[in-house]
Amino acid sequence: MELSIIVPTYNEAPNVAELVRRVAASVQGIDAEVIFVDDSSDDTADVVRSVMETASLPVKLIKRDTPTGGLGGAVVEGIYAAQADICVVMDGDLQHPPEDIPKLYARYREGDADVVVASRYVGAGSAHGLADRSRVLVSRLSTLVTRAMFPIRLRDVTDPMTGFFLVDRNAVDVRGLKPRGFKILLEMLARRAVRVAEVPFHFASRYAGESKASLRQGLHFLVQLAALRFGKMSLFALIGGFGAVANLGIMWFLIQFGVHYIPAAIIGAEVTIVGNFLLQERFVFRDMTADASGIWSRFAKSFAFNNIEALVRIPLIALLVNEWHVSSVIAAGITLAVAFIVRFVFHSLIVYAPRRSSSATRTSKILDELDKQAATPGEL
Ligand code: GDD
Ligand code: MN
Repeated sequence: MELSIIVPTYNEAPNVAELVRRVAASVQGIDAEVIFVDDSSDDTADVVRSVMETASLPVKLIKRDTPTGGLGGAVVEGIYAAQADICVVMDGDLQHPPEDIPKLYARYREGDADVVVASRYVGAGSAHGLADRSRVLVSRLSTLVTRAMFPIRLRDVTDPMTGFFLVDRNAVDVRGLKPRGFKILLEMLARRAVRVAEVPFHFASRYAGESKASLRQGLHFLVQLAALRFGKMSLFALIGGFGAVANLGIMWFLIQFGVHYIPAAIIGAEVTIVGNFLLQERFVFRDMTADASGIWSRFAKSFAFNNIEALVRIPLIALLVNEWHVSSVIAAGITLAVAFIVRFVFHSLIVYAPRRSSSATRTSKILDELDKQAATPGEL
């Protein structure tokens, strides 16, 4: 067996036969099996059982009695049950075109990747099949934040949220996975450094039925993201929080001595900007400095960003104080909180971005090693 195709299903009865037909047609010449991992409350399992009688390739069914871990849990069970080490994971609603399976497999066989991601955001890929504009926006935004939170692990991955990918199960720590809901690929990529390649694909519309994505899945995702990235993000927040308190303290101090609140806010901000930069260099982004631009260039970017941020913030503070009669220190606090998220995204994506040209394999090996340590929870 060369390839095991794992399809998690939750109420996909009307899609099963068409999926198997198209998979079978597209993997001709490849020794492949299809494994449905089903948690449905409809008759999906019965449909799978009847389709396997006539299918031209082996079709298996895992009907889970205790569906732990949702979609991600189902994928992990499928990977355990697979005959082949090379597993393709795809949705059961034909949003992931089966005709792209050989493309994923061919890319894998080039030999330099353990995971091949079918991406909507690379080359000729597209996300047209997403249900509506708000889904597109949520997907784009969460992809951006996720990549910002894992700038090293996801440096070659444009679509960490895709549910369509190939994985060599020997390269990922399957037993170490703690699947929660939809984003199983992200978990695989975040927990251990693996070699990733991407191929573009067109995310199609659903063949039948409706999406199981929900607000609850969205919340799951946020929890997962925070849990996976406990180390870096929490340190950044800690330093940011420390800086915010220092900023407010300096402001309060100066106001006590009769300084007008605007110059007080400016002085507070400048002192905090330099202090935060030094602390982040040392504690948050140390593992990325080797491959990033030089320290003065980093400082310039960070300093410029923070000053522009402050320039936007100070009129906002004035607005809050003058129009809404919020106390000046509280107004500064509100704007600092909003600025935090933007600042994190900017720093990990731009200030500490690896210089593409200098990605000598030796450096990236060292970086990967450092990243492994940085991703270990509980570090300080
Ligand atoms: N076994 C099992 N258990 N399967 C599930 C469960 C579950 O609890 N929840 C959903 N599924 C199955 C669905 O039946 C479908 O085959 C697949 O997982 C994806 O679910 P959809 O409901 O079709 O999700 P989507 O289309 O909104 O989201 C897809 O696209 C996203 C990209 O925008 C998924 O592929 C996501 O993983 C992907 O991030
Ligand atoms: Mn879908």
